Amino acid sequence: MANTSRLPNPWGAETILLESVDSTNNYAKDLARRGAPHGTAVLSDCQTGGKGRRGRSFSSPPGVGIYCSVVLRFDAAPEQLLHLTPMVAEAVRRAVAQSTGLEPEIKWINDLLLEDRKLCGILTELGMNGDRLDFLVVGIGINCNQQTADFPPELRETAVSLAQVLGRPVDRTAVAAQLLTQLHAMSRAVLTGPGPWLDSYRTHCVTLGRDVQLIRGGQRRNAHVDGMDDQGALLVTLPDGSHETVFSGEVSVRGLAGYV
Ligand code: BTN
Repeated sequence: MANTSRLPNPWGAETILLESVDSTNNYAKDLARRGAPHGTAVLSDCQTGGKGRRGRSFSSPPGVGIYCSVVLRFDAAPEQLLHLTPMVAEAVRRAVAQSTGLEPEIKWINDLLLEDRKLCGILTELGMNGDRLDFLVVGIGINCNQQTADFPPELRETAVSLAQVLGRPVDRTAVAAQLLTQLHAMSRAVLTGPGPWLDSYRTHCVTLGRDVQLIRGGQRRNAHVDGMDDQGALLVTLPDGSHETVFSGEVSVRGLAGYV
């Protein structure tokens, strides 16, 4: 992934390509704290401490994945940007579809699946300046050319790569270029026109309309997912007929049929 000319930066900012880094999110946050502009992108061939949500790690071996973080700056309060998370998932879905012809599904709130296995993870982090939002770093990891042995043993049943589904290797730079293109289009729509992005998200989200388990603090509750509101929260009905709104980060949602 070393050819910068094949990875133009659609924001007109810098795209930084690294061989190895602990986490592209950490690197991008450092740059953002030092004033890096909207659209600054960081990609690395591997990560030695790739981070997932809820304190998990993200497997990031060299030569096979895309590990990408983008600095975004919006003149808005964090509570006005709750829909960013599903929009990023939709942008990544479009990038994969455009660059490979595959049609990933989305598992709420921002995992991408192929053949019911996890293809991609997204970690969004905020940088605050007092009580004002300074920047966001959107971090995306896409499994591109991994074969089974490239995944840690505990992920071999639940993770998948583009190459495994296509039966051939993919051009990581072409996928990464589409990723930046779609993230740029998404970033332009965040404050001005998120509707079509969220509608398309809903069309491709396997969680909506399903019976699921809500998992929180070790406790599981059955629920039916009626839909997702315009902030990205799930609208659910519980077995007693009551309704609840489930916010991102508050719970995990698993389909009763199995994918974790
Ligand atoms: C998750 O599935 O829990 C989120 C995984 C996010 C991984 C990406 S890879 C690029 C960026 N750098 C990180 O350390 N994490 C994100």
